[in-house]
Amino acid sequence: MGSSLQGRDILRTDTLRDEELRLILSTAERFEEWLKAGSHLENMRGRVMASLFFEPSTRTRLSFEAAMHRLGGGVITVDDPMTSSAAKGESLADAIRVVEGYADVIAIRHPREGSAAEAAAAVSIPVINGGDGTGQHPTQALLDIYTLKKEKGAIDGLTVALVGDLKNGRTVHSLVYLLARFDVRLIFVSPTQLMMPADITDNLLARGIEVSVTEDLAGAMRESDVVYMTRIQKERFEDPTEYQRLKGAYVLDMAMVEQAKSGITILHPLPRVNEIEEEVDGYAGAAYFRQAHNGLPVRMALLALVLGRE
Ligand code: NCD
Repeated sequence: MGSSLQGRDILRTDTLRDEELRLILSTAERFEEWLKAGSHLENMRGRVMASLFFEPSTRTRLSFEAAMHRLGGGVITVDDPMTSSAAKGESLADAIRVVEGYADVIAIRHPREGSAAEAAAAVSIPVINGGDGTGQHPTQALLDIYTLKKEKGAIDGLTVALVGDLKNGRTVHSLVYLLARFDVRLIFVSPTQLMMPADITDNLLARGIEVSVTEDLAGAMRESDVVYMTRIQKERFEDPTEYQRLKGAYVLDMAMVEQAKSGITILHPLPRVNEIEEEVDGYAGAAYFRQAHNGLPVRMALLALVLGRE
């Protein structure tokens, strides 16, 4: 008997059940131990993942592909839509239906919100959303939660500041729904133009999550156990001068870390542009590169679970 995740699409975080979240995290832990022990895994032998990335990606695509290889499976990929038939005007649903004949699971990133759900509706094999425009990025949020557990021991009781482009950043849209399963306090730090969408904030408040909203990063860091920095999402701006105005809104440096709550953990989904000065990288609580590495066991767990090969 497989778990309830077998055969499932992973499109967003608000539809994952608590026990499914726990299963993903515990499976990722097991895979991480096996990786550390240098075990050679064959869970996915004979299985193929198609990675279809219609938007730039380094970490997400590479860690999905590495995850499949580490599990003994194969990978086929379209990384440049300009060389694929999308450039000839093929619809996403048609492209996905064709790929279904070649692969057992699809990881997709696409600039349009809702595109992963559209892809999933077109096929019967599992589709994993690697980012749909300004929508969601569930696998990033899962690795963020995995990282928080490892860095902090527990998530209950934490105050987490989410900082930067909360309007367009899909990582935070997914992450807040996972954080909301724990006893946390959230502080949303952004310029007024880039606030968290009201429907998400309302949803959190309706669940009884304590949310405060501010523009003051230094103040938030004095109260927070974790600060989750994000990039101002340049590609989502219609007006380039607006981006230029906002891109320097928050730049975290060592002076700010020294004024912050002691032991503060710093996360960032990466890539960073200018949100965290390099001088912060040597700080013990700067966890963003460890966070990126955690993408491997977490994506191994997801792939194995949706194919029932955990
Ligand atoms: C994020 C994304 O693509 O949304 N990157 C990632 O997957 N680690 C964050 C970003 O691009 O700012």
